[in-house]
Amino acid sequence: MNEASAYAPANIALAKYWGKRNEELNLPITSSLSISLNQYGATTTLKEHTQHDYFQLNGHAIEPNTEFSSRLTQFLERFRPHPNFYFEVDTHSTVPIAAGVASSACGFAALTLALNSFLDLNLDDAALSILARRGSGSACRSLWHGFVEWQAGKLDNGMDSFATPLPQEWHELRIGLLLFNTEKKSISSRAAMHQTVLTSPFYREWPQIVAKTLVTLHSAIDEKDFSLLGATAEANALAMHSTMLTSEPSICYWLPETVATMQKIWQLRAQGLELYFTQDAGPNLKLLYLQQDEHLIQETFPSIISIAPWNLQNAQ
Ligand code: DP6
Repeated sequence: MNEASAYAPANIALAKYWGKRNEELNLPITSSLSISLNQYGATTTLKEHTQHDYFQLNGHAIEPNTEFSSRLTQFLERFRPHPNFYFEVDTHSTVPIAAGVASSACGFAALTLALNSFLDLNLDDAALSILARRGSGSACRSLWHGFVEWQAGKLDNGMDSFATPLPQEWHELRIGLLLFNTEKKSISSRAAMHQTVLTSPFYREWPQIVAKTLVTLHSAIDEKDFSLLGATAEANALAMHSTMLTSEPSICYWLPETVATMQKIWQLRAQGLELYFTQDAGPNLKLLYLQQDEHLIQETFPSIISIAPWNLQNAQ
């Protein structure tokens, strides 16, 4: 138990998790489905520390008593072997922190995996996913590469609310990250989700929308129907943002560049390019396209970070 390390990829939801039925346990109102970002994720190394827990992110110490460090401490309480045992948690992330690019998801997933090996817990996949979910809901989907589905579950204790990987692979699929702003966001996804559920008159439509999204995504994945996959993911993201815009006060993560790029994507699509987007709780867009159009997309959006989710030789 000297030291243990683990890697977990970030993930982008094609059917979003937006709204909780239990905030303490991060139990979602709906199921969700994501795709993992291969080599973009977090590597966490654990050691024992003297006197207090110690956290480092990308080589910088995280100040004690910040929201982030108390979330980590709270998470670690479930694992502490005895009250005088302290953890040193050293995380290196290859995704921009708190920019709506799923940094907490891969962070808590990597931490859960590292704890499992550091403490020789031998937990099964469902237990690991349930524990990662306690850190951040979307973290329960970051334990695998490829497509991953999180079943909302029905139990009050959340023991049936965990993710599993889908067997289908889609090697031609590409995800492009277009980052307009990687600063910390003004309102966290956690707070935005809470406010939306409580105040948006559109939220009552959301569970049925996601149920339909999931059925359509499954057939798009089974049939390898890219137009259907892209259109369905884009519509789901826009529906989620509609619930935010109509919450009180309104939550708008869109920057002028976000909207201009959406319009450019719609224009390119009208000209025949198979290009779609999805967006999370931040201004950045994640583009969906096929390998055959990768060069054209890179020329059109020179700053894009293009990811091949199933080309895993570089992933850890
Ligand atoms: C918009 O998993 O960050 O990215 O459970 O409160 O930690 P907490 O929320 P979090 O929310 C992710 C929201 C989303 C959609 C998604 O990833 O499904």
